[in-house]
Amino acid sequence: MNIKYIIKKDIEQALIHIGLKNYYEPLIISSKKIELGNYQVDNLIKIANKNKIEPYDLFKKIIFIFNINNMYKKITFSYPGFINIFINQDWLSKKLEKLFISSRLGVKYIDTRKTIVIDYSSPNIAKEMHIGHLRSTIIGDVTVRTLEFLGYNVIRANHIGDWGTQFGMLIAYLKYKKLERKLKENLISLKEIEDYYCKSKKKCDLDKNFERESRKYVVKLQNGDNHCYSIWKKLVSITMNYNYNIYKKLNVTLNKQHTMGESLYSKMLPEIVKDLKEKKIAIEKDGATIIFLDEFKNRLGKNMGVVIQKKDKAFLYSTTDIACLKYRYEILNADRIIYYTDSRQKQHLQQIWAISKKANYIPQNLLLEHHTFGMMLYKNKRPFKTRDGNTIKLTELLNEATNRAKNLIKNKKPNLPKRKLIKLANIIGISAVKYADLSKNRNTNYIFDWDTMLSFEGNTSPYIQYAYTRIISILKKSNIRINKISEKINLTKDSEIKLAIKILEFEEIILIIEKKGTPHIMCNYLYQLATYFSNFYENCSILFAKKIKTCKSRLKLSFLTAKTLKKGLNILGIKILKKM
Ligand code: ARG
Repeated sequence: MNIKYIIKKDIEQALIHIGLKNYYEPLIISSKKIELGNYQVDNLIKIANKNKIEPYDLFKKIIFIFNINNMYKKITFSYPGFINIFINQDWLSKKLEKLFISSRLGVKYIDTRKTIVIDYSSPNIAKEMHIGHLRSTIIGDVTVRTLEFLGYNVIRANHIGDWGTQFGMLIAYLKYKKLERKLKENLISLKEIEDYYCKSKKKCDLDKNFERESRKYVVKLQNGDNHCYSIWKKLVSITMNYNYNIYKKLNVTLNKQHTMGESLYSKMLPEIVKDLKEKKIAIEKDGATIIFLDEFKNRLGKNMGVVIQKKDKAFLYSTTDIACLKYRYEILNADRIIYYTDSRQKQHLQQIWAISKKANYIPQNLLLEHHTFGMMLYKNKRPFKTRDGNTIKLTELLNEATNRAKNLIKNKKPNLPKRKLIKLANIIGISAVKYADLSKNRNTNYIFDWDTMLSFEGNTSPYIQYAYTRIISILKKSNIRINKISEKINLTKDSEIKLAIKILEFEEIILIIEKKGTPHIMCNYLYQLATYFSNFYENCSILFAKKIKTCKSRLKLSFLTAKTLKKGLNILGIKILKKM
């Protein structure tokens, strides 16, 4: 159900009938005041001006021709040039009735067999995930859930950083410290591995022999040496098992079968480099293989080079991404590919896309999108980092979230049994962090503030989760089974109509996320829905309504609000609670 779209089409139809040659697409918005109807055509003046006609005269022409069916109650004009549209209550009520029978809340399946690859989370091996990966992981997962809900064939691609020279250093270091056995026996934690990783890097800078040794191991690993391979495999599995736990905690849908890391493409790399050279796209310069692209100039105005193979024959992040893109198109049959990484990788991806098109690995019109996101900041607008300037580990952040939630709940409910307390704290704490992130426009930086995100007021997850539990408890108190009510919903009060229209907006929101991958649109929507419900609750008695018929109608409306909140939170990957 997309009411704005229906109105837009009807107005457009009228404009065509009138015979206007050039008009802008009618812009339909929700009215701010009830006297101005439920919806307004916002750009009538612009359309009128373009056609050299007075807005009021244009309105009269539109009305003359307009197909007033049972959806519209009345259509009025207000100065200087707005069309106000009032929707028929009966029509709304009929549409609401349909929502009871389906689990889709009126959202139609997209009639398509299109495959969409979503590259998200994508952490690096031998390191813990940090807060940048939080954003990629949870924002990407909302898009995945939305597109799957619409019926697309979605492929989750967790492009983990599991290939590269760092593994040579690590293998050399583990040997040097005689830690290989311990690793194989699972006695080394990810924290320790990360520590060895840092130390091995330092040692490489200082110790030429060690550096040579490391390089040897890279080559050995690439050539499939058993020993190196088994150590590499262990490092990957320790890191990823740790990460799968985090995914579970975060309630995101990623698991083992979605891991498609850099190593998957390693066998393709020599062939790609060879092919790009043959096609005269890449050239050799000082022993390295480089691609110069006309589209990308450096500060001096010279064509910028993308190195795809170094002098020491090592391949790079870029080489892998070219192979990966080819694979996603040829093997996975992608029609659209979306990457969730921060904005610093923008140029890298654009270069990869340009090269892959030039080499005809992918068609020119393949839909490629980079959904970037900004940084998390402190209140003083400084980047969110540890005291010593390091990135904050995701585990630490999530632990703090649950601890803070635990203290909060303990204060409110001192007698809650420990098991329940922990369960509740986990859900409330993690949801708060997720929601705080998802509710901000992903393109901008945002201030990370524990107190606001855990508050029961404002656009926060505790507020929305609580709104849901409150409705559930009203429904329970009524002792009436919703599916046993035969009477139709009857909308009389303004606050009921507003709530009804809001519920019917759900599809509109889903379709925006389908295009733009912007979860904050859903958060804003759920927040509005919850506040509209509050407003309705204050203005309309539900359980104590004068007539039982009214009570039943309002219970139905409450039920649909809860159903919509639940589905919306589910799209965001946020758990609901029956009690809070
Ligand atoms: N591993 C990278 C990082 O942690 C992100 C990978 C994004 N995906 C890609 N195809 N390059 O920054």
